[in-house]
Amino acid sequence: MRALTVVPTSSGSAALVDVPEPPETEGEVLVATHAIGLCGTDHEILDGKYGQAPEGQERLILGHESIGRVREAPPESGFAAGDWVVGIVRRPDPVPCSSCRVGEWDMCKNGRYTEHGIRGLHGFGAERYRSFARYLVKVEPELGELGVLLEPTSVVAKAWEHVRRTGERAHWAPKRVLVVGAGPIGILAALLGVQQGLEVHVLDRTESGPKPALVRALGASYHADGIAALGRDWDIIFECTGAPALFFDVVRAAAADGIVCLTGVSSGGRTMSVDPGALNREFVLENLVVLGSVNANRRHYEAAAKALARAERAWLAGLVTRRVPLDQWESAFTHQPEDVKTILTFTT
Ligand code: BGC
Repeated sequence: MRALTVVPTSSGSAALVDVPEPPETEGEVLVATHAIGLCGTDHEILDGKYGQAPEGQERLILGHESIGRVREAPPESGFAAGDWVVGIVRRPDPVPCSSCRVGEWDMCKNGRYTEHGIRGLHGFGAERYRSFARYLVKVEPELGELGVLLEPTSVVAKAWEHVRRTGERAHWAPKRVLVVGAGPIGILAALLGVQQGLEVHVLDRTESGPKPALVRALGASYHADGIAALGRDWDIIFECTGAPALFFDVVRAAAADGIVCLTGVSSGGRTMSVDPGALNREFVLENLVVLGSVNANRRHYEAAAKALARAERAWLAGLVTRRVPLDQWESAFTHQPEDVKTILTFTT
């Protein structure tokens, strides 16, 4: 069967290759991949900056955002042929740490977790894969292919859960949310904010392409005039770009008792001078919280599935701006100005 693979840390090594069928030891459920979604992490892996092959192997099968259909499953698995499913990305560490032990692998403490298509485990970017039922999430048939948005939505559902739990440290009545970055994570964070009845604003650099209309169709406001123009009274801020220069700007834009959630991964190497005392003062005198959030556990996938089921189907379809057949995978990785989410399709 065909699989999109890469030699991690070797830029330019991506190739569509023939790989053996997945062994039964990888799980009782056989899934035919329908599509994988591409994100910044995949680009980093392709550029040789991130990623790790399974132990003893040279190549890593890509793909952590996925949607597929069950081919074979034993009745006791809870799955049946034809079900639309998404594979959970992270697996608990082998120790396991106290978080992984209770199924909160997204909070792994020793860093020995593995991630499909990213770190030590093959991804879902093969024509077929196998999984244990406990690491699969069912998607409503009406959602079908759009279930490919479940993984990024799970990441956002986790971030929202942690923001809410942080807010509940005291009386909390948030009203205004600023989302910085209108990529898929930013737009999905806005969707979940609107679903909670909050006033949501999204800031991005671009004024063209589909992003402004997607945001406005949600009932959220779209801005492209820079963070300084947006004031400093945001109850919640999601930073979804990872752009290093924005870090201090988002911290400064938070209201007293505000919560800043960082979801974008920055590349290091950029330096600027800061006044740690002034920063400390701001955090303390304003009860400010800055939290980082990564990955998701099963609870978040389930919350994400509910959020997608509540969203308008046509709006969700608008997020998938390019569907590229597997054999043209190279073009999928060439960024186009209108891109929001590009998916690689394995079946027509
Ligand atoms: C994935 C997460 C993963 C993170 C770090 C993201 O692109 O969506 O599931 O934990 O990368 O590897």
